[in-house]
Amino acid sequence: MSAVLPSGASLYDRVRRVIPPIEWPIFLDDIEAILALKRERNAVILAHNYQTPEIFHCVADIVGDSLALARKAMSTEADVIVLAGVHFMAETAKLLNPQKTVLIPDLHAGCSLADSITAEDVRLMRQRIPNVPIVTYVNTSAEVKAESDICCTSGNARAVVESLGVPRVIMLPDEYLAKNVAAETDVEILAWKGHCEVHERFTACDVRELRQAHPGVVVLAHPECPPEVVAEADFSGSTAAMSDYVGLQKPPRVVLLTECSMSDNIALQHPELEFIRPCNLCPHMKRITLANIRAALEQNRHIVTIEPEIAQRARLAVERMLAL
Ligand code: 13P
Ligand code: SF4
Repeated sequence: MSAVLPSGASLYDRVRRVIPPIEWPIFLDDIEAILALKRERNAVILAHNYQTPEIFHCVADIVGDSLALARKAMSTEADVIVLAGVHFMAETAKLLNPQKTVLIPDLHAGCSLADSITAEDVRLMRQRIPNVPIVTYVNTSAEVKAESDICCTSGNARAVVESLGVPRVIMLPDEYLAKNVAAETDVEILAWKGHCEVHERFTACDVRELRQAHPGVVVLAHPECPPEVVAEADFSGSTAAMSDYVGLQKPPRVVLLTECSMSDNIALQHPELEFIRPCNLCPHMKRITLANIRAALEQNRHIVTIEPEIAQRARLAVERMLAL
């Protein structure tokens, strides 16, 4: 996405199908302020695919899944990175850009997966199951990453597991992602009991009912969904993979079993396709708003910091993943 954005009407064109005209003036003041602040501060906004359309389409410079945001965070020449997403994503950006200022607009934008495991849990697991590599999902704290051998995202989990060339790995903390990867590989995967509070709510019964109610619907599921949901879906992949699938296959009628803003953002790019919308909101992603992005740039808050010794070890786990 280009950093040069028009304002006013042409900007509204990007989102008019999901934002009613009466709401637009409320957004426009913050959008124009954010665009000016980005120029003043040489800042970029990295926005996850789950950010609301006024953020995703009107102020973001770089959008994508966790893997893309991590990769693209490394190539920016900006002095300041604002992470419109959740805390672990801001920490990953900071790990890869130790010299830059990384801001998260709301410090409480967490993640149920990141909260499901501590560094001490990982150390205990390594003691109990020695000599088995630990693959850690990026949806974790820097402390947990620091105890891991390598990170993965939903976009590369199988490739990471298979790159290790071992018969058995521990994969933390998402039980369902681990089981979904296990279904595709010969590598034995030992899982943790963490779940995404958004994706665990989808059921296989939901999928069957959707197919009955909307004949011909193509069902895409994020791999944080329970395995029985993924088994009933037509395709499973990271948020970027789902977006690419829609762009390439152009299914006339499609449902995305994931966070709600994802369908809004993709639907704006594909007005010709019908999006069926059972979806679940991520309360953590929804903590990020235009107002707190503006405040982040105005007040230089909240600065993401990571203790150097933790950062050094966590960075290694992320860099090993990115080197693949
Ligand atoms: P992606 O890496 O697929 O964007 O997933 C991140 C996430 O938090 C999904 O819930
Ligand atoms: Fe975490 Fe789930 Fe929200 Fe993604 S959608 S940030 S995994 S709680």
